[in-house]
Amino acid sequence: MVNLNRRQFISALGASALTLPPIRLAKADDGFIPLRASATKAQLLAPGEAQTNVWAYGKSVPGPVLRVRQGERLKVRFFNDLPQASTVHWHGIRIDNAMDGVAGLTQAAVPPGQSFEYDFVAPDAGTYWYHPHSRTWEQLARGLYGMLIVEERTAPDFDLDLPLIIDDWRLDEAGAIHEASLGAMMDKSHAGRLGNWVTVNGASGPVLKVPTNGLVRLRMANASNARVLRLKTANLKGKVIALDGQPVLGSAVDSETIPLAPSQRVDIAFRAAAEPDQSSELLVQAGDKNISVATLQTTGAAIEAREFPQLPANSIAPLGNLQDAMSVDLHMEGGAMGTMREATFNGQVLSIRELVRAGQAWAFNGIAGRTEDPLFRARRGQTVIVKMINDTAWPHAMHFHGHHVRTIEKNGTLVDNAPWRDTELLERGETVKVAFPAENVGKWMIHCHMLEHQAAGMATWFEVSV
Ligand code: C2O
Ligand code: CU
Repeated sequence: MVNLNRRQFISALGASALTLPPIRLAKADDGFIPLRASATKAQLLAPGEAQTNVWAYGKSVPGPVLRVRQGERLKVRFFNDLPQASTVHWHGIRIDNAMDGVAGLTQAAVPPGQSFEYDFVAPDAGTYWYHPHSRTWEQLARGLYGMLIVEERTAPDFDLDLPLIIDDWRLDEAGAIHEASLGAMMDKSHAGRLGNWVTVNGASGPVLKVPTNGLVRLRMANASNARVLRLKTANLKGKVIALDGQPVLGSAVDSETIPLAPSQRVDIAFRAAAEPDQSSELLVQAGDKNISVATLQTTGAAIEAREFPQLPANSIAPLGNLQDAMSVDLHMEGGAMGTMREATFNGQVLSIRELVRAGQAWAFNGIAGRTEDPLFRARRGQTVIVKMINDTAWPHAMHFHGHHVRTIEKNGTLVDNAPWRDTELLERGETVKVAFPAENVGKWMIHCHMLEHQAAGMATWFEVSV
């Protein structure tokens, strides 16, 4: 076994200054943006070191930043040049169900050499991202992801809008993706595929230029297979202005740790230093250390200070009367150090030993993996409460498709005015009740976004009908 600790969070020393060229996306005559997934190479290690064979959109890690204005159509023609079938999922978008990109639920996976047209309206402004929803545990680990930004109808005034996708890779000694452990049972039954090399926008320890005295919007997403990033900042005073795309009333970020579970996003607004060549750091907690993963450096003459803009709220329907809501329990069990003895998989009750042989380790309500029948059916307009009971020894990042949900109760305590999120982090042993208006007709997944957990049983779905 390779010593995975050797590369543990080594930030590149002497990383070169790196500015992100805006990627121009040539639209075809019919208005479709081409998005091609293929094998390529990426400079994940420090400049001058080896390149890594990856799979990527548009031959770059991350893939191109896609931008669309709120309420407008995004049309993407996806070409699959990968050696296996794939799809594109638009994470966090309250989307037309047929465009949700879930292989085997909302569409057939696109075979190698074929294409699929995604065409949808983005109802909410904010920070989203896209990734495959077919063997996600492998395809995401190999580098397939990109940012999707839905711009507010009237764009708030920032001097710089900077998307940052953070990823935790598992690389071997030579800097190659550690392929032998893709989908390993050890990862499935424990914390998922934790990596040993962190990149920001596909680079190790990049130095990113920000305008001196400028007002900056950082849009951060966690594209790790399984790592919960505990983010810190140094020499950066700002506030959190959005979570999972939805605006929140800014809380200060100077000393707080910001937990960012796999697939979650956080937008931070901050004013850059008033002098050029000043640095702020973005840090990730690793054990008892905080490791810098990116540097933000002021450049140019100071520009005139402006007010922090307020983000306009999106129009998610109110929760309505919770007394009339439909209530569903979602009992999460399994994994190493768990108490699960058996679970149903493919219609058969299997012992733990048999489950493991079938690559399964977890269950929702005694069932491992997606079944023919949904976990529940709701009518459009109905309010749904899902009580998630994390009866395991591990944290989980529970993701709801097509809807944003709001925590109403945590470990028995009522919670008021929680943010709308598409992914909720449940620490070990926690019980969280979320509520949401079932607004969007179709078949929607609920799954853990620790992708090895998803593949090993933590996946189900619900249906909303008119
Ligand atoms: Cu980000 Cu079901 O996925
Ligand atoms: Cu999980």
